[in-house]
Amino acid sequence: MTEQDFILLPYPNILEEGNFSWESPSNIALVKYWGKKKDQIPENPSISFTLNECKTITTLTFTKKESNKDFSFEVYLDGNKKDDFKPKIQTFFERIESYLPFLRDYHFKIETKNTFPHSSGIASSASGMSALALCLVELEKQNVYRFFNFQAIENIDLNFFNQKASFLARLGSGSACRSIEGDLIVWGKTDSIEGSTDLFGVKYPYKVHQNFKNYQDTILLVDKGEKQVSSTVGHNLMHNHPYAQNRFQQAHNNLEKLKPILESGDLNAFIKLVESEALTLHAMMMTSMPYFILMKPNTLEIINKIWRFRQDSGLHISFTLDAGANVHVLYPENEATQILEFIKSELVAYCQNGHYICDQIGFGAKKID
Ligand code: PMV
Repeated sequence: MTEQDFILLPYPNILEEGNFSWESPSNIALVKYWGKKKDQIPENPSISFTLNECKTITTLTFTKKESNKDFSFEVYLDGNKKDDFKPKIQTFFERIESYLPFLRDYHFKIETKNTFPHSSGIASSASGMSALALCLVELEKQNVYRFFNFQAIENIDLNFFNQKASFLARLGSGSACRSIEGDLIVWGKTDSIEGSTDLFGVKYPYKVHQNFKNYQDTILLVDKGEKQVSSTVGHNLMHNHPYAQNRFQQAHNNLEKLKPILESGDLNAFIKLVESEALTLHAMMMTSMPYFILMKPNTLEIINKIWRFRQDSGLHISFTLDAGANVHVLYPENEATQILEFIKSELVAYCQNGHYICDQIGFGAKKID
């Protein structure tokens, strides 16, 4: 596939008005994406678990308008108008316009809500951008279906729909392209994963051991404040970063190493690889110029407690980190009872206001009727 494949032959905007709703989940990377080229092309491949509970629900209401120079849209979060979200969506529309030629022909009302608290330090960009991309591709699909009298059209099949939604979501926020489907999604071209591409996320195509089914992710909300350094700035600091080329190569190598681990169910090897990825991500931040630290003292307290408990109990508890201070505690479903007990008795004390979210692997976005 190339970018051009996402531009359909011209079709008329048959729908005058209406609305579509989609819910789309967040995701947590195991091998991290950090560093990008022009047009949101990743510097290295990544793989993530799609989450189940942390999601954004978006309703897109559209009304045909006189086509003119400007995009016309309003944005609401939990029923409240959010003009401060508009610049990001304006940029998103500019980036995707050549793939969705109808964007200037409608007025859009975008109503969105998250299942996780807005100020939780959990980025809503992956779930939010993917939910919006899905609503927009839905509008294109419905116009095209009407034009062709609802006959099955080869290039608007489910596969194409998901690829286009992922492709567009990527242009909103890179990691958002991994939120359309589940349960393991690869984004970024790498030789060891057949079908992988820089343009959109693809389902991990190889065998996955039972140990990794329903894998649990308890998110410990260590710091719910706004990050001091945004992901955009962080990605850019990988340009001219002294360790960048080694890091990008390491991500390719780690994806290759993960294949036999996922197949055999080797939990110890999984833990080593995933924790090393998380700490490497933060090491890249600390060795950028300017350098920065997103972990907080409680992030380190939690990591140390996890390591001690793992050693003492022999259980397969591990952690990963996003670009923030929160800790994702990962563990297999069959060890959930004991590990959750440990989390509640030993780790929740390090969370801001004792807040945490119990999540697990999910299977992707859904249309809401
Ligand atoms: O999608 P962005 O630009 O917010 O970048 C996200 C990067 C990490 O969350 C740190 C890693 C990843 O692969 O999700």
